Amino acid sequence: MSRLFLLMGVFILSTCGALTLFQREQFMDPMEIIRYHGYPAETHETTTQDGYILVLHRIPYGRNGVGNGSPVRRPPVLLQHGLLGSSFDYLSLLPEKSLSYSLADAGYDVWIGNNRGNIYSTEHATYAWRDSRYWNFSWDEMSEFDYPAMIDYVLATTNKTELYLVGHSQGVLTYFASSTFNQSIQDKVKYLFGLAPALSSTNFEIAFNNLLSAFPTLAKLLLWLTPNEASSLPVMFPLCGQAIYLGACKVGLGMFSGPTDQLNTTRIPIYVAHYPGGTSRKNLLHWLQQSQNGTAHYDYGGTGNLARYGTPFPRSYNYSGYRTSSSLYYSPADRIVSTEDMKIAFSLIPSSTIIRNRNLTNFAHTDFIWGDRAKTEIYDEIIGDLAAMEGA
Ligand SMILES: *[C@@H]1O[C@H](CO)[C@@H](O)[C@H](O)[C@H]1NC(C)=O
Ligand SMILES: *[C@@H]1O[C@H](CO)[C@@H](O)[C@H](O)[C@H]1NC(C)=O
Ligand SMILES: *[C@@H]1O[C@H](CO)[C@@H](O)[C@H](O)[C@H]1NC(C)=O
Ligand SMILES: *[C@@H]1O[C@H](CO)[C@@H](O)[C@H](O)[C@H]1NC(C)=O
Ligand SMILES: *[C@@H]1O[C@H](CO)[C@@H](O)[C@H](O)[C@H]1NC(C)=O
Ligand SMILES: *[C@@H]1O[C@H](CO)[C@@H](O)[C@H](O)[C@H]1NC(C)=O
Ligand SMILES: *[C@@H]1O[C@H](CO)[C@@H](O)[C@H](O)[C@H]1NC(C)=O
Repeated sequence: MSRLFLLMGVFILSTCGALTLFQREQFMDPMEIIRYHGYPAETHETTTQDGYILVLHRIPYGRNGVGNGSPVRRPPVLLQHGLLGSSFDYLSLLPEKSLSYSLADAGYDVWIGNNRGNIYSTEHATYAWRDSRYWNFSWDEMSEFDYPAMIDYVLATTNKTELYLVGHSQGVLTYFASSTFNQSIQDKVKYLFGLAPALSSTNFEIAFNNLLSAFPTLAKLLLWLTPNEASSLPVMFPLCGQAIYLGACKVGLGMFSGPTDQLNTTRIPIYVAHYPGGTSRKNLLHWLQQSQNGTAHYDYGGTGNLARYGTPFPRSYNYSGYRTSSSLYYSPADRIVSTEDMKIAFSLIPSSTIIRNRNLTNFAHTDFIWGDRAKTEIYDEIIGDLAAMEGA
């Protein structure tokens, strides 16, 4: 409900409220939207070792009971969002174009995670959401603590020993990083499907980042002036929620994510009503560091690094112990994970783990979750590969 009031506020503040496109899915939470499309929905919670309470949304089986009560339950598939995302990323598309609903209809037990600090995972065992100590994390901690907690919870709840994992962007980066904190997490993940895997973002080509590189001090100042809690405000809505601005909105999205030719324009206001989904300032700063200095742990500065890591510079992530069989889907049209970044990523990952290497044409960064061609060019292949692995 609070999201409803937030959006109403944005309507009123925006110049052309009367022309605002209004669709019910803008105001629904994940449980409501899953049920709206006729699927069963559940909410679960798990607590990380460092006290963050994470919310998972679940579609346990398909529409009209497909897969429910079948003698052999299909294994769980965990879907994990990217930077500033949420479980809604996998619920944005219409069911027939979407990965999550298609998996449920194919009989899989679908779990959708939420990292600490987004709009759904807002609680901590000790710290309040408003406490600055709550926001003291970046993707280092998401890798070290969030993935183990979510994976262990799903396996314990479903009484399985392995699951399949699908990640988008940061959701792939954090799995690779997670495997460096405790390699045995890989015994629990049978296969990784990585969409726009953001193992490197040195070429973060976006206009925003050019500004950041040119004026790093100004950029850091801006970041520090932005409250953590504001990172889930639907800031794109005033532009992308209104019919007359949709053209400008697409240009804006293109600057950030890559030019797209496959967004259902009518649904853009739904997507931006749920994005961004929130994260910490410290995480954004870590991304800024990664765009300039490669995939390393958070940089606390000279003395901070000495205190924390025992070295003046943060350690680079070393993926030489990575052994999860993986499919990677990426595209030269992606402005956030560019061709150059993919070349760096391939140099970091043992090549024997890459089972499928898919270089797609004209997929912007957000097209991997919002694009109309994602179903036929990515999701159908994932579902086929799962069927082959399950011997179905
Ligand atoms: C944040 O965490 C780091 C490392 O875990 C710690 O050194 C620092 O004191 C913490 N800062 C706050 C404000 O809690
Ligand atoms: C969990 O699975 C094992 C075999 O995989 C089975 O023996 C056991 O009965 C199951 N437990 C429950 C509670 O379903
Ligand atoms: C790594 O994960 C395994 C399996 O979950 C667990 O038994 C082990 O204690 C973990 N190791 C560390 C150092 O946390
Ligand atoms: C685009 O989205 C609208 C609104 O959800 C939907 O009615 C329409 O069928 C979609 N078009 C396509 C081609 O999927
Ligand atoms: C990148 O690393 C250098 C030192 O190697 C440091 O001076 C610089 O501040 C770092 N950049 C960012 C954005 O952290
Ligand atoms: C990564 O770790 C492996 C094994 O521990 C080591 O042989 C290799 O030199 C490391 N790579 C880098 C770049 O540090
Ligand atoms: C993907 O294909 C394009 C040409 O279609 C090529 O320029 C690019 O280098 C390829 N990307 C990778 C990572 O090989």
